[in-house]
Amino acid sequence: MAKLSVNINKIATLRNARGGNIPDVIQAAQDIQSFGAQGITVHPRPDERHIRYEDVRELKPIVTTEFNIEGNPTSQFMDLVLEVKPHQVTLVPDLPEAITSDSGWDTIKHQKFLRKIIEIFQKQNIRVSIFLDPIVDMVSAAKDTGTNRIELYTENYARKYHKNQNKAIEPYQQAAKKAQELNLGINAGHDLDLENLAYFKQNIGHLLEVSIGHALISDSLYFGLENVIGMYLSRLQ
Ligand code: PXP
Repeated sequence: MAKLSVNINKIATLRNARGGNIPDVIQAAQDIQSFGAQGITVHPRPDERHIRYEDVRELKPIVTTEFNIEGNPTSQFMDLVLEVKPHQVTLVPDLPEAITSDSGWDTIKHQKFLRKIIEIFQKQNIRVSIFLDPIVDMVSAAKDTGTNRIELYTENYARKYHKNQNKAIEPYQQAAKKAQELNLGINAGHDLDLENLAYFKQNIGHLLEVSIGHALISDSLYFGLENVIGMYLSRLQ
């Protein structure tokens, strides 16, 4: 079964809208784990408009499942990750002003840079995943960066899913096949939801983990967090 890692940035965004501590991000992470999620993901950005650096430090002792910190490897981000030492760091080439991650790495152009950064994390026993578009050449070049895993960027899949599921999944199957041949672990994330998740899981062999935030937290407004975690877990079986 692929692990469900819940991205809790949106809970922090709601808290930040008012100041104060409602909803309590730390309590939410504890509850999400007790409801059965197998991981907690955070994506600290330089302006701290979602999760804050201090939240990440506070989360470290309470995350008993898998802790995944994602973000652009600026020196500030790297210092935080090396201090907190999560199980996994996911490197994302997002610009500071981007609303959300909007592209994968060019692993050919940035191969040297990635190799250097990845080695630093791995020396501290932090597993590394890099965010990638479903492009076979990018997967091949990812192998040469030394990364442990790739995270397939699923926005295009989600966008095309309702028109043509076969076409939507095809590039992801090819990228996943290449990753498997190269012995790279496969994660996935972005815009996965209750409708498109099961088909993705069924059609991508060896999927290790999905990280889901926006849709899952939005669904919780209607169904409640505990129910929603169960619903997402059932899609992954
Ligand atoms: N993976 C990465 C690298 C992301 O940046 C995000 C969004 O922060 C996600 C997964 C989760 O995307 P969503 O919030 O659409 O579920």
